[in-house]
Amino acid sequence: MAIRLGDIAPDFTADTTEGTISFHEWKGDSWAVLFSHPKDFTPVCTTELGYTARLAEQFAARNVKVIGLSCDTVEDHIAWSQDIEDTQGISPNFPMIGDADRAVADLYDMIHPNASDTMTVRSVFVIGPDNAVKLTITYPASTGRNFDEVLRVIDSLQLTATKKVATPVNWQHGDDVIIVPALSNDEAAELFPDGWDEQKPYLRVVSQP
Ligand code: BEZ
Repeated sequence: MAIRLGDIAPDFTADTTEGTISFHEWKGDSWAVLFSHPKDFTPVCTTELGYTARLAEQFAARNVKVIGLSCDTVEDHIAWSQDIEDTQGISPNFPMIGDADRAVADLYDMIHPNASDTMTVRSVFVIGPDNAVKLTITYPASTGRNFDEVLRVIDSLQLTATKKVATPVNWQHGDDVIIVPALSNDEAAELFPDGWDEQKPYLRVVSQP
């Protein structure tokens, strides 16, 4: 069954390039990005994993642990890492799950048989400190993802988890935000004493808190 926003991310134990990992224990109370790529030794995946490795400091700054997966073996992941280093200038610096028996892929519904019955789609799950799923993204094999967008959305998720705001179209960290409609003007005045730009009663724009 599909995993929906708000669901607890299913726990599992799996072999990875960094040893056996029990997911919830490994994740602890950090945020996590669990993502699948369709297959090792394929071109788009090679670029995605190299780019994700380059973002290690950005993920760490947000208290996010990253873990990859495909239905290949750990041995293949390790052999492929050299190709990623050769072509992208950096090798994966996060664990990659060897899921040759598809146990985790099935648990997270990452195989979409009408797209491919052997390879995972390009899934992304962003999971919060409470182990609840905060975001899911699904791309087809032919289209590489934008991992800067994954960081952008994590910035929004982390901000909106603690402040009574939502982020508008194309928002980037530091841009103005929107006061959530559930907050009355009296309540908003307490949280945002410098005021806001009321473009409509339901569209109240304020500096990012
Ligand atoms: C790729 O990463 O380039 C790829 C993987 C599986 C199917 C098609 C493309």
